[in-house]
Amino acid sequence: MRMYDIIAKKRDGFELTKEEIDFVVHGYTKGDIPDYQVSSLLMAIYFQGMTEKERSELTLAMVESGEIIDLSPIHGIKVDKHSTGGVGDTTTLILAPLVASCGVPVAKMSGRGLGHTGGTIDKLESIPGFHVELTEEEFIRQVNERKVAVIGQTGNLTPADKKLYSLRDVTATVNSIPLIASSIMSKKIAAGADAIVLDVKCGSGAFMKSAEEAKTLAKAMVSIGNRVGRKTIALITDMSQPLGKAVGNALEVKEAIETLRGNGPKDLTELCLTLGSYMVVLAEKAASPEEARAMLEENIANGKAFETFLSFVEAQGGDKSVCENVERLPEAKKKIELTAKKSGFITGIAADEIGISAMMLGAGRTTKDSTIDLSAGIVLHKKAGDEIKEGEPLLTIHTNKLEVESVIEKLYDSIHIENTKADIPPLIYEVIT
Ligand code: URA
Ligand code: CA
Repeated sequence: MRMYDIIAKKRDGFELTKEEIDFVVHGYTKGDIPDYQVSSLLMAIYFQGMTEKERSELTLAMVESGEIIDLSPIHGIKVDKHSTGGVGDTTTLILAPLVASCGVPVAKMSGRGLGHTGGTIDKLESIPGFHVELTEEEFIRQVNERKVAVIGQTGNLTPADKKLYSLRDVTATVNSIPLIASSIMSKKIAAGADAIVLDVKCGSGAFMKSAEEAKTLAKAMVSIGNRVGRKTIALITDMSQPLGKAVGNALEVKEAIETLRGNGPKDLTELCLTLGSYMVVLAEKAASPEEARAMLEENIANGKAFETFLSFVEAQGGDKSVCENVERLPEAKKKIELTAKKSGFITGIAADEIGISAMMLGAGRTTKDSTIDLSAGIVLHKKAGDEIKEGEPLLTIHTNKLEVESVIEKLYDSIHIENTKADIPPLIYEVIT
């Protein structure tokens, strides 16, 4: 087989075979095929696309390029959730214990934050003592005993994706639906999930800016998942404004606890109940999303969801008394309240700008190795659609930085107040099955 012929075949719009795709992925991972030939193929894929069959073959080839986590010692159907990333997206912290409280095993591998989106692990580490370094044996035992565990990225999962992604990053080929879909799905499948619920976000704070693009990506991922034998469902959800009210690590832990206790922001609660319902259905613990939702609501009301969270925190070395008294979470020295400069309706809160502001306040990493301030972030007091009067609190900045004038200016620019009410995007656009 010659790489030259494979490039020419894709350039001319033909479908590649499984053997050809395996040849490229394995050859590139081993270092046998040079970057310039793979770049050329990626560009041909960018223009010609890939069939559904090619996409699932590519996904499986990337899965097989490295280690695959074996979750079979865990009893029950393991359902994973994946979000394409957003600002103030606290859902994993809530969903993991909430769904686990219904008897669904949650064996989750999570990442750290980079840039304007936060990572679940950083958030959890703002609970004193909490750690994510479990051995595989400890991880599996904890899920069997307590139904939920979260670990950091371990092992050598999907090395082909890492190498291809780096190449795409410098050859203007990131933005291709088949390549994005197979990249995301390969990681979920290698992490051992039996079934997958995808939260595909759209809006200013998301990778996909429009609902149309998000839908195309969601359909591509659902098709790959189902073709390779993992039941997959996707929700298209809004990321034009931050999710919930808190953005920042310890602030989001507090928000997650409030939500698990039934006092969370409306949008965050609704999204968790909807995503959670599909997770419970895919795990075959309920026959319909409606039945699943009732189970989740009951476990918030009767305290089981929060108890499961405490049990999970305790098992991973975290101080659970801090979760019962959230004022003991890391706290920033400076709190600055910004008030509205005029009266009117909030027509939009630019999620990306809020995320970047939180990062500038210390909550996020600018590079992979920078340290973060777990106490820093932003708490919104109003959301898009709300009415506000001049002088009323808009948001509070939490920071230990000395100079925040430029962030304050940026925050004022990112919140739009108009005289008349505008249409606000729906929280959930669509469910793709
Ligand atoms: N996220 C991924 O994991 N892969 C992509 O290709 C794009 C976004
Ligand atoms: Ca939030």
